[in-house]
Amino acid sequence: MCGLIGYIGNRPAQPILIDCLRRLEYRGYDSCGLALLGDGIQVYKDQGKVAELQRGLSLTNERTGIGHTRWATHGRPSGINAHPHLDCAGQIALVHNGIVTNFLRLRQQLTQEGHIFSSETDTEVIVHLIEKYYRGDLAEAVAAALGQIEGSYAIIALQTGPKKLVVARNESPLLIGLGDGENFAASDAAAILDYTDRVVYLEDGDIGVITEREITIANNGHEVSRQVQQVPWTQEEAQKTGYEHFMLKEIHEQPRVIQNTLRGHLSSMEPVAPEITANGDIAQILLLGCGTSYHAALVGKYLLEKLAKVAVRAELASEFNYHDTLLGKTWAIGITQSGETADTLMALRKAKSLGCKTLVITNVVGSSATRIADEAFYIKAGPEISVAATKSFIAQLVAFYLLALAWARIDTSSRERLMAELRLLPNKVQQLLDGQDDIAELGEYLSRYDSAFFIGRGINLPVALEGALKMKEISYIHAEGCAAGELKHGSFALLNPHTPVVAIGAQDNTYDTLLTNIKEIKTRGTPVIALAAEGDREIDKLVDHVIWIPGTTPLLSPVVNSVALQLLAYYAARKRGYPIDQPRNLAKSVTVE
Ligand code: AGP
Repeated sequence: MCGLIGYIGNRPAQPILIDCLRRLEYRGYDSCGLALLGDGIQVYKDQGKVAELQRGLSLTNERTGIGHTRWATHGRPSGINAHPHLDCAGQIALVHNGIVTNFLRLRQQLTQEGHIFSSETDTEVIVHLIEKYYRGDLAEAVAAALGQIEGSYAIIALQTGPKKLVVARNESPLLIGLGDGENFAASDAAAILDYTDRVVYLEDGDIGVITEREITIANNGHEVSRQVQQVPWTQEEAQKTGYEHFMLKEIHEQPRVIQNTLRGHLSSMEPVAPEITANGDIAQILLLGCGTSYHAALVGKYLLEKLAKVAVRAELASEFNYHDTLLGKTWAIGITQSGETADTLMALRKAKSLGCKTLVITNVVGSSATRIADEAFYIKAGPEISVAATKSFIAQLVAFYLLALAWARIDTSSRERLMAELRLLPNKVQQLLDGQDDIAELGEYLSRYDSAFFIGRGINLPVALEGALKMKEISYIHAEGCAAGELKHGSFALLNPHTPVVAIGAQDNTYDTLLTNIKEIKTRGTPVIALAAEGDREIDKLVDHVIWIPGTTPLLSPVVNSVALQLLAYYAARKRGYPIDQPRNLAKSVTVE
């Protein structure tokens, strides 16, 4: 959840760290800080955003430093709880992402031994342990300290004296960026793209020592070599490029993202799938994800069942950990944009332990999920900076279309029709984006309400769930996604003229029943906004407002409908004046359970 950065080189570290921290802020943004290594260690940290921290700084000349943006877990957001944390002597500084699960016991023990703690964080025990074990070599002390730690961590440490950074990881992301006469450590490649695109991803158990000219990595006491990889993202992709918010930019990138994801996997008339098939003796496919990625899984379930004719179970990753039974030979597919979501990683590990072969659909090369899963299917969304997932969701849907087509048990002409429609999707989405003004108006209209329902049926039920998630996440309007048929089994009690309903229509076998549901809702005096395919002559007679959706085959309608709902949420939030890219209390990748 937190963002980490370290710099060692020949340039002033402070502006580089600040710049990288700004780019990392989407990982957590309730407090931040940095430590600079000169004759001693200078620490600057506070509650709030990086911009506020920067305002209090004057330019200094140190060439080594570490920085952190925080999403609070242990201890409220405050200057004291912000990282970096120091040992008692003020000679070792440390930033950390992860959770030390045995920190209370360690803290008690260290306190009895005379260590004085200043924060409420779990992190502080690590730096005191390093101090306890320090015998002249920081990396050795880090190894000894981490031997006492239970839980997850990515850390960067520095000490007074010789210029170097010591890094280590276990179940939290960390990489080393290689520059020319300078090196970096970061939780995230997007943070350092302005400086280098050559990175080394650390593995669990790795401890690295970084100087400006050299890196060495050891695991279990033995030196190891790790491959240098090129980050497949450009600097421009990680910038706003004139858009007011990253979210709007990322929504507008979607035609290209669909194209890129298709291009990567759909050559000539035959889709290329990873080296697995759902044929043969597979009893079921298990889909695992959280939040928006879980909604993509629900669309995927529908597609795989319909096209590949295979039984599919979609589970919230955080809940799968409480289930123990699988029916027969199962392929498990984890869906995670970041590849770092703790619940999804744990669910993938559990699926493996139950004997499943595993695949991950992810956006991040080298992410933790790709190390756990047997296979990786990369979506080509580029860096997604806004906390609200948009383009990654659409790319995940495209991945499911491709997989379902690769494994489809349908006749050739149906397959070709669907592939032809898939190729048209970027244009359909572009058409919708070109007409976004009407959606913007409706978003502003919705911004007046405190509560709303999103309803859908069939393959558009997950779209309703996702529309509601997007709305609440950034506009803070309470929004509930609901199966259209379920509304009258309880939620109807909440319908009134002040609780609008957004109904997702599609020209499939759900259409007539959805119209009936809309009539039932209208009878309660509730305003209804419908998403309807262009050319629909029925629905606008029933509802208060219509968002016209460029027509596509119903099976592909989730893509265009979802983009419309992203815009609806965006403009509602914008009208309300909220910090769209960094909604309160959230973080981009949730690396704690
Ligand atoms: C949605 O807008 C959120 N950012 C969130 O629900 C997200 O999809 C979820 O935390 C899972 O993230 P992942 O795809 O990186 O695993």
